[in-house]
Amino acid sequence: MNTYDLVVIGSGPGGYVAAIRAAQLGFRVALIEKYPTLGGTCLNVGCIPSKALLDSSEHYYNAKKKFAPHGIFAENISLNFSQMISRKNQVISQTCEGVKYLMDKNKITVYKATGAFKSKNILSLQTPEGASEEIAFKNAIIGTGSKPAELPFLKVDKKRVISSTQALSLSEIPNSLIIIGAGVIGLELGSIYNRLGTEVRVIEFLERVTPALDTSLAKELEKTLKKSGISFHLSTSVTAAQVNERKVKISARAKSGEEFSFTSDYVLMAIGRNPYTTGLGLENLGIKTDDRGCIAVNEKLQSACENVYAIGDVIGGAMLAHKASEEGVFVAEQLAGQKPHINYDLIPSVVYTCPEAAAVGKTEDQLKSDGISYKSGMFPMRALGRARISGDLEGFVKILADKNSDKILGVHILGARAADMIMEAVTAMEFEAAAEDIARISHPHPTFTEALHEAALAAVENRSLHV
Ligand code: FAD
Ligand code: NAI
Repeated sequence: MNTYDLVVIGSGPGGYVAAIRAAQLGFRVALIEKYPTLGGTCLNVGCIPSKALLDSSEHYYNAKKKFAPHGIFAENISLNFSQMISRKNQVISQTCEGVKYLMDKNKITVYKATGAFKSKNILSLQTPEGASEEIAFKNAIIGTGSKPAELPFLKVDKKRVISSTQALSLSEIPNSLIIIGAGVIGLELGSIYNRLGTEVRVIEFLERVTPALDTSLAKELEKTLKKSGISFHLSTSVTAAQVNERKVKISARAKSGEEFSFTSDYVLMAIGRNPYTTGLGLENLGIKTDDRGCIAVNEKLQSACENVYAIGDVIGGAMLAHKASEEGVFVAEQLAGQKPHINYDLIPSVVYTCPEAAAVGKTEDQLKSDGISYKSGMFPMRALGRARISGDLEGFVKILADKNSDKILGVHILGARAADMIMEAVTAMEFEAAAEDIARISHPHPTFTEALHEAALAAVENRSLHV
């Protein structure tokens, strides 16, 4: 029987990164993946394909709607959707091939098989062709990720009722699309199809979009997306659904008591994701999961079975690729006797809408409920030279800092290139910077980062220079 120091189950950004770091540290490592390609949700049906379609659809939208003020008149613009999808597939396969290359480079043994624990040192593997094998291990990492959640009366049939996975590979541009859930997936995928001409309607249970974002950011984002053509039905619950070969009819009730019904070509379920632990044989290790399938871990990310760790979406917390990767590195380094650390308070998040939303640290609501006295500095993008140059006038930067010490507690950005800009805030906060530190750093002109500089000046003592 082949024996490994470490087996990693699941090749997502948690698992494959854990495998690389462990191999770098001298462990003999095996990576187990049940799907034909490596990379997990993120590379195959998540981050990479969604951002590829977001970029492609943004080019199309800009060419149609945003070029004219620049004096560019692109007439007869047409769209070849199947080419857009094949380009996205090419981006996926190049990225997945990259992971395969990294496994070979680091001498990690990859098993294309479904793994299930037989005991605390033996994993049984079942290949898609039906062959089985057992391997032995000293330590294991579970990185099996998550699956889309469904409503009890509306299951994903992959035809008319779809999850993000099918929405990223449709064979046609829908005329109409209902999205249930105004979270990250709802807004990103809604943006893609809205730009391509689909009538997009989002039904959200809460009174606001993107519950994890700072309220002011979420409100402004909703306003911008509405202006671009997406309809929102907030404080509304889906009560029933009828699905046939060609259409889906959704019945919904607003908190006010008003009843609606909508018909569309497809309905996209975007109400969150659940950890995926089915069939892992956790019962053979004495590991229990909660109702959603989530594995409980201690501060070392160790499960109830001491040589079995769990990382990424399967343990809950923020379901983000970079959080999963940090946890993979953390476990590998710990197994090597190092003392790694993850600062969960400073894991940034990004919504890749147009404009982008990006955040790190506390929201205003969190500071209020924690009873922390804070001050806030805001700067609107429209007051920025760089924003006028590109025509990206929407959004703002908001910096929240401790009222007494001036330490930065949260940074919230809505605007062009927010995804990249947020890293200045993360770096500053990792070094426990004060708002004044950012205010005193020279920022290149003209750039969007000047909005951070100005928001910091506003937070220090309301002394922005350009408003
Ligand atoms: P996963 O990536 O889910 O990988 C788990 C792997 O384990 C899968 O390949 C699965 O096949 C395999 N597996 C499961 N069970 C077994 C078994 N028994 N045996 C063998 N293999 C098994 N996050 C971001 O940070 N940025 C984004 O822009 C972003 N965009 C997203 C867009 C969409 C549409 C979706 C759905 C998600 C997005 N995410 C994004 C979230 C991100 O994809 C996840 O947080 C991340 O992939 C979690 O990584 P993971 O390693 O925990 O698991
Ligand atoms: P989410 O948690 O972001 O949003 C789900 C939304 O659905 C919430 O607003 C919730 O209130 C709403 N909802 C729940 N039940 C509902 C119901 N019955 N009716 C109407 N609305 C309902 O989850 P989402 O968008 O499915 O994404 C899953 C995960 O994937 C997220 O945790 C996210 O972190 C990750 N992801 C990250 C991305 C990024 O980093 N850019 C992009 C896409 C996904």
